[in-house]
Amino acid sequence: MSVIILGIESSCDETAAAVSCDGRTILSDIVASQADEHRKFGGVVPELASRRHCENILSTVDSALSAAGVTLADIDAVAVTYAPGLIGALLVGTSFAKGLSMASGKPLVPVHHIAGHIASNYIAHAELEPPYLCLVASGGHTMIVCVKGYTEYEVVARTHDDAAGEAFDKCARVLGFPYPGGVHIDKAARRGDPRAYKLPMPHVEGNDLDFSFSGLKTAVINMVHNASQKGETIDADSLAASFEYTAARILTDKTIEAAKRFGYKKIAFAGGVSANTGVRTMLGKACAKHGFDFYVPPLSLCGDNGSMIACQGYYDFMAGKRADESLNALATLTLG
Ligand code: KG4
Ligand code: ZN
Repeated sequence: MSVIILGIESSCDETAAAVSCDGRTILSDIVASQADEHRKFGGVVPELASRRHCENILSTVDSALSAAGVTLADIDAVAVTYAPGLIGALLVGTSFAKGLSMASGKPLVPVHHIAGHIASNYIAHAELEPPYLCLVASGGHTMIVCVKGYTEYEVVARTHDDAAGEAFDKCARVLGFPYPGGVHIDKAARRGDPRAYKLPMPHVEGNDLDFSFSGLKTAVINMVHNASQKGETIDADSLAASFEYTAARILTDKTIEAAKRFGYKKIAFAGGVSANTGVRTMLGKACAKHGFDFYVPPLSLCGDNGSMIACQGYYDFMAGKRADESLNALATLTLG
């Protein structure tokens, strides 16, 4: 008998739902994105996100079930992102999933958002199984994770300040690109010269695998402001390319070093920033050079989506993870 999981995601500005079969087969995937609305404000407005989730969640879940050709009676569990993320946004998905679970009598499975991002690689790569090392880089998190099992993680590096995606977005903003800026830096970087501007590599105190992106971000912001004060023009494409190159260097070098240190043979990459052309390419080449197998999701699974929650929800369900009617959402929660 197949195991069918409904996955619900509402941690930021995408209301998403999907249905998985035995974890890795995705029967449906529906996303109601709010990006166009938040763009007017230059970033995600948390209260607006909560309101839009509230309006869209029922139709999104309904569409996911009907597109998969299943009803609530056919599913084995309701999986939902309960942490980390914007608290008001998470509460919409969590409360909705709780109600659905109680009304249908189907078990409720709480899923960690970062575990979901990691699982996006299972959908794309049938052969990928733990143990492996995963670089996770999103708008809110940047970490290197030892994935020891489908539900067993050890975070071995994290950021001391900005997440990689946050640095992409802030640099994009100062260069005049709209929100969310990461994809615009990516496009501009393809036209620019990555050697045009010299940017600092961070020095991190303590764990040498940890990240820091605020110095790099500030260097880009200062360059733009100094140039405008002096009446000079900045080559935005080349500054985007130089920033992307430096961020890719930082992410790649630390991930390769971590894989060597902890003895992993396989390296995966996940989270919104895994959509970035420069980082995907540099990390992929470094993996080939050092003899690591490299896994990255297709662009459609890099950003927030319901499939990753339906997939990880399957592994959490099989591991016996359950929540009851007291399940709460959490803005922050360490993985593992
Ligand atoms: O995982 P995600 O969709 O949401 C969070 O969990 O935060 O990640 C969103 C982040 C944003 O900062 C966005 O700018 C970045 O991923 N991003 C990119 C690209 N596409 C999305 N950054 C660089 N290059 C891209 N192509
Ligand atoms: Zn995410």
